[in-house]
Amino acid sequence: MKITVVGGGYVGLVSGACLADLGHDVTIIDTVSAKVDMINSKKPPIYEKGLLDILKRTVGKNLTASTKYENVSESDVSLICVGTPPKKDGSANLDYIKSAAASIGEELKKKSEKYHVVAVKSTVPPGTTEGIVKTTVLEYSGRNDEDVGFSMNPEFLREGLAVEDFMHPDRIVIGSSDKRAGDVIEQMYEKLNGDVLHTGITAAEMIKYTSNAFLATKISFSNEIGNICKSLSIDVYEVMKGVGMDHRISPYFLNAGAGFGGSCFPKDVSALVSLAEEKDQNPILLKSVLDVNKTQPLKMTEILKSRLCSLKNKKIAVLGLAFKDNTDDIRDSRSIPVIEALILEEADVFAFDPMASDNMKNIYPEINYCKTALEALKDAEGCLVMTEWPEFSKLNDEFNQMKSKIIIEGRHILTIDEKEGICW
Ligand code: UDX
Repeated sequence: MKITVVGGGYVGLVSGACLADLGHDVTIIDTVSAKVDMINSKKPPIYEKGLLDILKRTVGKNLTASTKYENVSESDVSLICVGTPPKKDGSANLDYIKSAAASIGEELKKKSEKYHVVAVKSTVPPGTTEGIVKTTVLEYSGRNDEDVGFSMNPEFLREGLAVEDFMHPDRIVIGSSDKRAGDVIEQMYEKLNGDVLHTGITAAEMIKYTSNAFLATKISFSNEIGNICKSLSIDVYEVMKGVGMDHRISPYFLNAGAGFGGSCFPKDVSALVSLAEEKDQNPILLKSVLDVNKTQPLKMTEILKSRLCSLKNKKIAVLGLAFKDNTDDIRDSRSIPVIEALILEEADVFAFDPMASDNMKNIYPEINYCKTALEALKDAEGCLVMTEWPEFSKLNDEFNQMKSKIIIEGRHILTIDEKEGICW
C-alpha cells in the first residue's frame, strides 16, 4: 500500500518507519526541514530502540520524508499523527489536526480514481474525526465521502518500546464509519498478529483516552495505597504483588512511587476531565488521579527535609531526570517538581541521568549536571531516585561515598538495603 504519514514526531515517525518495514511505501510529511533531513539521512531525530535499524533498512527504498504534501491523492491512506498539545484549561488544542486535514484535502482535490482513507492516529476528543477532520477534508477536496473514507486508529505505543509495541500489539483498534474504510486500515496491518477490534469512530477516540486514564488510575491508586502502607509500616510492593496476581487486576502498572509523567498520561487525563466538565459532568475520580500524581513527588522532598531538618546549602543528588527509563524525554517528568522544590529549599542539586541532562538544562540551567551517578552521590547528604533506569539497580558502593546515606527511592529500583522508599 502507499501511505502518507502527516507528522514526523514520535508517533508518526515510529508508525511510518514500522509500516515501511512491513513492506508499505511510506512518505512522512513534517514541516521541520531539519527533521526531514535527518530521517532521509537515516538518522532518527528521537532515540527509540530499534528505530535506527529500521531507517537503515527502509530509507532510500520504501521510506522517505518530505516537507511538502506530495502525491497524497495517489496514496491509499493518510495517517494524521500531529500533536494535540494541552491548552491552558487542559483541553486538547486541535489546530494542527485542522491544518493537516486542510492540507490533505487540498491534495485530494487533485484528480485521482483512487479511494483514499484519512485515518487519525493522534489522540483526539471524541467527535473530532467525524467533525473537524471529515468536514475539513471534504470541504478542501471537493470530494464526497464515497471517494474518501474516514477512520480513527489510536496508537498504544510506549516510549522506549514503541517499535516493539507497534510490531507486537495487544490489539489494533479501528474505528470507522463504514466497512470499506475499516477494511483498508485492517489490510494495512495484515502482517501483524494483534487482535483487531472494529468500532465506531467516536468509540475508538474514547478507547484511547480511557486506556490511558485507566492506567494512570492504577498508578495513582497504587500510590495512595502506598502512602497508607507507609503510615502502617507495610511494604506496598509485597501488597501489590499479591493484589496483581488476581487476573482481573493484572500485575502491571501497580508500581507505587514518584507518580506518572510523560507526554500522554498527564495530558490525556486532563483532557478527559475537561471534556467531562464541558458536558457538565464532575469526574471526581479522574481529578483525584491527577491530584495524587501532583502531590506524590513532593512527598519525597518532604521525607528528605524531615530527615535532614533543613536542605539549605546541602548537596542533594537527584538520580534520573527522564520521565521513565530508556528515553531522554523529560515532559512532565516527576523530577521537575522535585528539582523545583529543592531549589526553593536552597539545596545544592547535583543531577545525573544517562540521557536526559541536556533537555533538563533548558529548564533548570542553575543546577549541577554530573557525568556519572558517583559524581552526584559523592559527599551528598541525601539522594532522590526519580527514574527507573535499570543501571541504578547496580549502584552499591557509590552510595557509601555519600556524606550521609539518606536515600529516598521513587521507583523501587535500588537493590541496596539502606534505601527508604517513598511508599513503604
Ligand atoms: C503511555 C502508555 O503506556 C501508552 O500506551 C500510550 O500510547 C502513551 O502513554 P508512555 O508515556 O511512553 O506510554 O510510558 P509508560 O511506560 O506507560 O509510563 C508512564 C509513566 O508512568 C512513567 O512516568 C512511569 O514511570 C510511570 N509508571 C508506570 C509508574 O509510576 N508506575 C507503574 O507501575 C508504571
